[in-house]
Amino acid sequence: MTDRKDDSSAPKTWSGRFNEPVSELVKRYTASVFFDRRLALHDIRGSLAHARMLARQGIIAPADLAAIESGMATIRGEIERGEFAWSLDDEDVHLNIEKRLTALVGDAGKRLHTGRSRNDQVATDIRLWLRDTIDAIDALLRDYQRNLLDLAEAHAATPMPGFTHLQVAQPVTFGHHLLAYFEMARRDRARLADCRKRVNQLPLGAAALAGTSYPIDREFVARELGFDGVCENSLDAVSDRDFAIEFTAACALIMTHASRLSEELILWMSPRVGFIDLADRFCTGSSIMPQKKNPDVPELARGKTGRVNGHLVALLTLMKAQPLAYNKDNQEDKEPLFDTADTVADTLRIFADLVTGIRVKPEAMAAALRQGYATATDLADYLVKKGLPFRDAHEAVARAVRAAEARGCDLADFSVAELRRFSPLIEEDVKSVLTVAGSLAARAHIGGTAPAQVQAAIARARQTL
Ligand code: ARG
Repeated sequence: MTDRKDDSSAPKTWSGRFNEPVSELVKRYTASVFFDRRLALHDIRGSLAHARMLARQGIIAPADLAAIESGMATIRGEIERGEFAWSLDDEDVHLNIEKRLTALVGDAGKRLHTGRSRNDQVATDIRLWLRDTIDAIDALLRDYQRNLLDLAEAHAATPMPGFTHLQVAQPVTFGHHLLAYFEMARRDRARLADCRKRVNQLPLGAAALAGTSYPIDREFVARELGFDGVCENSLDAVSDRDFAIEFTAACALIMTHASRLSEELILWMSPRVGFIDLADRFCTGSSIMPQKKNPDVPELARGKTGRVNGHLVALLTLMKAQPLAYNKDNQEDKEPLFDTADTVADTLRIFADLVTGIRVKPEAMAAALRQGYATATDLADYLVKKGLPFRDAHEAVARAVRAAEARGCDLADFSVAELRRFSPLIEEDVKSVLTVAGSLAARAHIGGTAPAQVQAAIARARQTL
């Protein structure tokens, strides 16, 4: 750290039992203040709740609490104004703040750590921070969902080819296609909400690992900090980071969904497909090829998905061989966690806006539909309704498609007389079946792509926001 002069001769908070100071390299290697200072305001919040509990229980004097509260107010101001002098000598965010508190208010500052350890302190800080982070990401997901719905509504009846194996399969509406991403985001939010329940439990009181001999009131601290309850087992409370892993797994899925949409946007924007255009603010040009407009933002989102997946593996690996209870390994939980949250939040913020910058080209979508025999299934279903078993209908239509391919035309280009060569069951009423509009309208059940169903799905989805 550069903010405060490092002073190797200054005694460490825990230096009483040591004969020699750690080397500069070890100091850097073991310090976390570079990154965990991000937890500072949550650390102060946790400390204040702990101090209030200590005073209520008569473990510290009211005057000590008053001194701690005023000192912490000063420190919070210093941090918010960027004036706090962080020091590598004090290892982490917790010791930095405690040391400053003691400098400001004397012995009361030294009493704050009564009945507590950095082990339950850091676990509490992370949970407080993560709870806020989950709420912020949930709000971003909601914004993204809302913008998806607006675009889906505008295109509830815009036909496009639905694909399987990236081959034209059956007609869908663009609105219906977008609603698939709405559903993914709905589940992403549900996963975060579920994870939040397990995050929102208080570790404080576990102290180093075994609990504490002071007459503490953990329920009071939990209420003060808005936790739903207290962690039941002290060893578990200080050691497990499964809640961070769960959060990162939920984020990996959020990124996976963003990455799937990215892949589609990139494909749709390719001049070979040309289904959409993306607003210029999400694209960049090429330094050599003047004609290029590259979808950099979706490409980066696709790339950053790998980074979040990596964080998930890092955290799982961090945890897997740790014996109970706390081990310093756990200090390594923060950077993956912070970077996951930042990456997901930025991606969602951008995607909410990106969705509003999609310009749809319905003519290109319609042209692609005319080339892929997208209504072949509809013709088979038509024959089934006339009494033919489905497998026979499938065969008859397959022959019709082969003939159309040989002639270089669509099924709809055959006359009824020509179609009857494939099945005598075909009559004049087949014409509406072979149209895209007919195909769409026929899928008129819940979850289907009929424009009326898409409108209804949008209305239901809006209710949930
Ligand atoms: N900086 C540490 C961490 O992030 C705080 C807990 C340290 N506890 C200890 N006994 N060394 O996990």
